[in-house]
Amino acid sequence: MDDKKILFSAVQPSGTLTLGNYIGAIKNWTKLQDDYNCIYSIADLHTLTVKQEPALLRAHTYELTALYLACGIDPEKAILFIQSHVPAHAELTWILNTMTYPGELTRMTQFKDKSQRHCDNVNMGLMDYPVLMASDILLYNTELVPVGADQKQHLELSRDLAIRFNSRYSETFKVPEPYISKVGAKIMSLQEPTKKMSKSDANINAFISMDDDTDTIIRKFKRAVTDSDNKIVMSEDKPGISNLLSIYSVVTGTSIEDAEKRFDGYGYGDFKLAVGEAVADVIKPIKEEKERILKDKAYIDKILADGADRASRIAYKTLSKVYRKVGLVPRAR
Ligand code: TYM
Repeated sequence: MDDKKILFSAVQPSGTLTLGNYIGAIKNWTKLQDDYNCIYSIADLHTLTVKQEPALLRAHTYELTALYLACGIDPEKAILFIQSHVPAHAELTWILNTMTYPGELTRMTQFKDKSQRHCDNVNMGLMDYPVLMASDILLYNTELVPVGADQKQHLELSRDLAIRFNSRYSETFKVPEPYISKVGAKIMSLQEPTKKMSKSDANINAFISMDDDTDTIIRKFKRAVTDSDNKIVMSEDKPGISNLLSIYSVVTGTSIEDAEKRFDGYGYGDFKLAVGEAVADVIKPIKEEKERILKDKAYIDKILADGADRASRIAYKTLSKVYRKVGLVPRAR
């Protein structure tokens, strides 16, 4: 690798991806490909922390890979691989587990939320999830992690673990920095705009799926909850309108100020329609390209195999350094 900084991120292949996942994460990944050595993973081990249908998990893994490619991730520039193809992730997790305290994990907002939602299956993996995420990041000497705002707390743990390991065993890991965009880091529900947009929302009108067709997208935006006055401005007391302005701004590349000017004097109905159309214009070609790529499994497999080879080389270098530092005897050759 050259001297560019290393950037790592991942998404779970847990079914439908939302507009929130796209705007908060994947959209930024493509534009960072030229300036960083980018490593993008499909976090399949993370999805096992909630119940999965095995055949569906496999299908979702291919779909997510095709979506990455359709969004513009270029396998010539970035390393693209499936987390479980590089066992070093699970191996480093064991080491980091021995220096993580239960209280650090039980206080995580996402653990609390998911334990409530999946109260029949609060397993150790659900609790340990942020340590696996720290391993993902630290194995690659990552300096930058582009994520949505909901991952900030997990990233802080990765930083704490890197610092803890370095101070106990000498300098080993880079301490990663989050890359969280100012606009779009937290896309909100279209039905309850004080809540994060999430695919697990029981109300399908609350989120836009990257698989939605144009009519569905426009219908969902038309139904988006706003407020009772008629001004299209960014404001804390207008969460619905502010969310729509953020979405419009990111998908069209317009600043918030310019978007406010553009819609000055518009009624909410016309504004919602314009946002819906702008989103549909972005999603439609991605969806079509994803479907085209998905038909060529051999092509996807080849990219993933190549990605896993490249990722393994970096990951095992770090892991063997870690094993040596903690005192494990290297296997004789
Ligand atoms: P996941 O799969 O839940 O979400 C993937 C990415 O989408 C972002 N995101 C959002 N951004 C803006 N608005 C929203 N409403 C919204 N919803 C989700 C998330 O912040 C995330 O960036 N644990 C991670 C996956 C992971 C990972 C990693 C990420 C595993 N290992 C290492 C970074 C580095 C997760 O579950 O993301």
